[in-house]
Amino acid sequence: MFTTILQLVIAYVLPILITLLSSYNYYWDYAATTITGDGTSEVYDFIVVGAGSAGSVIANRLSKNNRVLLLEAGGEPLYFNSIPGFAPYMLNRPETDWMIQTVPQKLSQKGMYDKRSRWPRGKLLGGSSNLNYMFYVRGHPLDYDHWANLTGDPQWNYENVLPYFKKSITYNGKHKHNEKHYGYNPYGYLNVESRSFSPLHSYFVEAGKELGLKEIDLNGPQREGFAEIEVTQRNGERFGTYSAFIKDFVGRSNLRIIKYAHVTKIKFDKNNRAVGVWFEKHGQRKLVKASKEIIISGGTIGSPQILMLSGIGPKEHLKDVGIKPRIDLPVGKNLKDHFVAMLTPFFVNDTVTLMPDRDFGFQTLIDYHVYGKGPLTVPTGAHSQGFIASSLAKKAGESKWPDIQIYLSGAGLYNGAPQDFSALSNVKKELFEKYYEGDFTKNSFLGVVSLARVKSEGVLELADKDPHSTPVIDPKYLESPHDVKVLVEGVKFFVKMAEETKSFQKLNASFTNRHFPGCEQHKVKTDEYYECYIRHVGMTLYHHCGTCKMGKGVKDPTAVVDSSLRVLKTYGLRVADASIMPEIPNGNINAPTIMIGEKAADLIREYWSNQYLVCRPQEQLLVKKFKNQCFYTKMV
Ligand SMILES: Cc1cc2nc3c(=O)[nH]c(=O)nc-3n(C[C@H](O)[C@H](O)[C@H](O)COP(=O)(O)OP(=O)(O)OC[C@H]3O[C@@H](n4cnc5c(N)ncnc54)[C@H](O)[C@@H]3O)c2cc1C
Ligand SMILES: *[C@@H]1O[C@H](CO)[C@@H](O)[C@H](O)[C@H]1NC(C)=O
Ligand SMILES: *[C@@H]1O[C@H](CO)[C@@H](O)[C@H](O)[C@H]1NC(C)=O
Ligand SMILES: *[C@@H]1O[C@H](CO)[C@@H](O)[C@H](O)[C@H]1NC(C)=O
Repeated sequence: MFTTILQLVIAYVLPILITLLSSYNYYWDYAATTITGDGTSEVYDFIVVGAGSAGSVIANRLSKNNRVLLLEAGGEPLYFNSIPGFAPYMLNRPETDWMIQTVPQKLSQKGMYDKRSRWPRGKLLGGSSNLNYMFYVRGHPLDYDHWANLTGDPQWNYENVLPYFKKSITYNGKHKHNEKHYGYNPYGYLNVESRSFSPLHSYFVEAGKELGLKEIDLNGPQREGFAEIEVTQRNGERFGTYSAFIKDFVGRSNLRIIKYAHVTKIKFDKNNRAVGVWFEKHGQRKLVKASKEIIISGGTIGSPQILMLSGIGPKEHLKDVGIKPRIDLPVGKNLKDHFVAMLTPFFVNDTVTLMPDRDFGFQTLIDYHVYGKGPLTVPTGAHSQGFIASSLAKKAGESKWPDIQIYLSGAGLYNGAPQDFSALSNVKKELFEKYYEGDFTKNSFLGVVSLARVKSEGVLELADKDPHSTPVIDPKYLESPHDVKVLVEGVKFFVKMAEETKSFQKLNASFTNRHFPGCEQHKVKTDEYYECYIRHVGMTLYHHCGTCKMGKGVKDPTAVVDSSLRVLKTYGLRVADASIMPEIPNGNINAPTIMIGEKAADLIREYWSNQYLVCRPQEQLLVKKFKNQCFYTKMV
């Protein structure tokens, strides 16, 4: 009964409420905001483009003692964004999501509509940290040592980035004693806590021990093993970078935030110094200027798009779409993402799973609202995580640098599952209906196996020169045979863990023997079958990154920014967000992106603390239109 009501709410009431609330947001903003003068009358020290995971941090830190303008294409988050359990239902809504899809894939997405992958991206204050699943995972120490190698700059090694991970957060989880990795931070506005609610978790940890994998702290000294999740929440409520770094600071006189401001282009002077940006808001086009720097934090899709629209990108491609090239850089290349296999259903003979029909009731609401716990605090019901190294990693001598991440979710098959899973994954609904037929009331859970260190590399290009067009994105999933091998091994590991450990045998756990539609020609539970399964239902884990790669500087043909995040061959322009990652970290990438935001803010503050202001005589002004005649130069 309660589930029926819940399903009705989710299917009909929620969309209507969200649309009403967001249009209220939009029209209220439309009426209330005036953009001062012609936009050139206000000069800021810094302009930050995009209020996402990184941009929010940067705007907060810099506005402490500089005038900062933060431009964001979206508006305020809605109440429903704050309920973790609603996270899957907040995707694919034009009010808060850019609603991006990739081009049809050759070697994957075979079960999906049009063979495309859906890529939700936050279009609101807080960016994707306000749409995401909140897992807080920093990645493996060797990931950052590798970054230091790739950039030739020890600033990015683990020892040197660890303080920036710590700086953002107040840790209220169960590993509080661990000073080295958490510690007390007076300006750590982001709350992180541990979360657990399912009895299934203990079976998982036990199974891990049988397989020689310890119980770990996901962000602690050891990274291979099994753990309970850590999340960016406060008392069970979503706590994204909006709540942490913006909401309480909107009154700061140094910080101006313009919502619904879609940035279309960067303005340069003749020396390739970024001096301003154009943006569109409520149909008007405006130019705003920064005297020190412009920081692009539009995310892995937005940042390369803005650079290319401004003439920074692969020369030939820009010419093809009718944009005059300014600087030839490999923008849009090096696109990386975590690709996952969602495995359902695993049957069990006890009520340890999360079956909405059985487990959701009035108490669920009380648990959430009063105690900040229960199923509504866990998006998609995934309460356990683990890291393992494949035989390929072991062969390469990297057994301590896992390449597979696994998740266990207590979520069972409810009647709405085909519809919901289809909306999330883009897998055709009728395929799930056929695959799950007859299994809807059985106790079951689901597993997710992720390629943590992918080899396949995609590319992002502009569709045309219209700033409102969605870029053409080709992630080239599974194009590297190495990725297929590792993922198949991960899937086999998961099934073995569920079927062959004493721990899960207590629940008589077993993976379904049913064929996924399209893979009938293979015997179930063989390598060939799993490969086919992965190519049909394998999907994104939403960890796109790398399109404005950080590298060794102008001599590095793969680099877009240097190790101080400055766009090569320009002045006054940096990129800081997930797009600068030279290689994808081993885990969930929100925490690393927030770290990049902290690091960027520090690099910028350090740089400008050594600067002094010089004012040019009028006749030397390069762009006469600008009244601002002053520029900064490095102190000697
Ligand atoms: C559904 C989902 C689940 C996820 N789950 C997790 C998870 O559990 N754990 C985890 O660690 N990571 C997760 N991620 C990934 C993580 O949230 C992102 O990698 C991270 O938020 C990216 O941060 P960013 O700063 O690079 O970009 P974003 O946070 O996307 O910020 C970019 C901002 O720039 C704005 N913008 C873009 N273009 C323009 C423009 N032209 N003008 C003005 N503004 C613009 C956007 O509206 C947005 O607000 C998930 C992502 C999604 C989508
Ligand atoms: C980084 O480079 C050093 C020196 O070449 C090497 O010993 C080390 O293994 C590399 N580390 C990673 C993680 O790539
Ligand atoms: C264990 O599970 C299998 C497969 O689902 C089933 O055939 C069998 O009857 C179960 N045994 C017990 C004791 O529940
Ligand atoms: C589940 O199956 C296992 C293994 O067959 C059995 O030992 C256990 O008692 C069963 N549990 C329940 C609740 O039926």
